[in-house]
Formats: sequence, C-alpha cells, structure tokens
Amino acid sequence: MYQFTDKNGYTVTYSYDDHPFSSSPAHVFILTRYNGQWVLTQHLKRGIEFPGGKVEKGESTVEAAGREVMEELGGKVGELIYIGQYKVDVEPEIIKSVYYTELSSLTPKPHYHETDGPVMVTGDILKERFKDEFSFIMKDETVRLSIEYIQHELDGGKSIG
Ligand code: GTP
Repeated sequence: MYQFTDKNGYTVTYSYDDHPFSSSPAHVFILTRYNGQWVLTQHLKRGIEFPGGKVEKGESTVEAAGREVMEELGGKVGELIYIGQYKVDVEPEIIKSVYYTELSSLTPKPHYHETDGPVMVTGDILKERFKDEFSFIMKDETVRLSIEYIQHELDGGKSIG
C-alpha cells in the first residue's frame, strides 16, 4: 500500500493488490499505448490525462474501460491488464481500478465525449506530466506507480515511451 496527499489535499491510497478496496469500483482509469506512444485525452476542464470515468449501471469495469477509451480517444482496447486500484478519501469516497492496454486501433472521430480527443505523448511521461497543460490527476503518485509497473512488469525493464 502506498499513501500520499493529492494536489487538493485528499489522502490517496494505492495498491497493486487484486481489488483491495472494491470488487466493483465505480471508476476506471486506463493507461493506453499505441505504436509505442502513450495516448492520453484532452479533457475539456482538467487538461491532458489518461482516459477514464465512471462505470455505468449494468456494466463491468472492463466494459466501462473499453467504452471510455472509445468515447475519449476513438481507440479500440486490446487486452485490458489490471494494474492496481486506488481510493481517494474525498466525500463520497472514490475508488478507481487502473488498467493498461495496447490499443488495437485509433480512428479519428468527429466528436469526443467530454474531451477534445487523443493527445500522443512522446518522451518521458513521468516528467512530461508535470507540465501545466496536464490534469491534476496525472501529477498523482498513482500515475508514477502505474507507469513503473508497466515498465518493470510488462515491458520487462525496457524503457518504452
Ligand atoms: P463529474 O464526472 O462531472 O461528476 O466530475 P467530478 O470531478 O465532480 O466527479 P468525480 O466523482 O469524478 O470526482 C470528485 C472528486 O474526487 C474530484 O473533484 C477530485 O477531487 C476527486 N478525484 C476524482 N478522481 C480522482 C483521481 O483520479 N485522483 C485524485 N487525486 N482525485 C480524484
């Protein structure tokens, strides 16, 4: 378990364990890559961030992840790999499952839900994310822990993106 205070002063707890806070969390957050580049979305209010959102009624978290990636990026998810889960001690509490996927396609759309569509990030995302145009969500330790998991556990120590 990792614990820290976010930019808004809320306590955030992150874990790589298998669904430690909820087996059916209300939120999902998906780290996506396509052709070796990170694919984020330009959220209209918060700035650049990885896609994600609320799980709708009757949907599984994996289904929600696929839908959010299509709505916010125009991307089709490949295998969705569970990375971990975090909770934000805001009222009411937010619990998010974090996934990684390699997109199988990325097709431009005339309209993106709540966002301006995909933004490709090249270079070191662990540094890029501190720029002003990135959302506060990207500055959390949750993103560092998730990216490090991908680099160490999935990319086998190779530094891709
Ligand atoms: P809507 O989707 O319009 O309801 O937006 P919202 O931001 O008001 O609702 P949401 O339930 O997504 O988030 C409520 C609050 O929880 C936010 O204002 C943040 O303070 C906090 N929050 C949500 N997601 C995250 C996250 O990923 N990280 C951190 N640190 N805080 C978050």
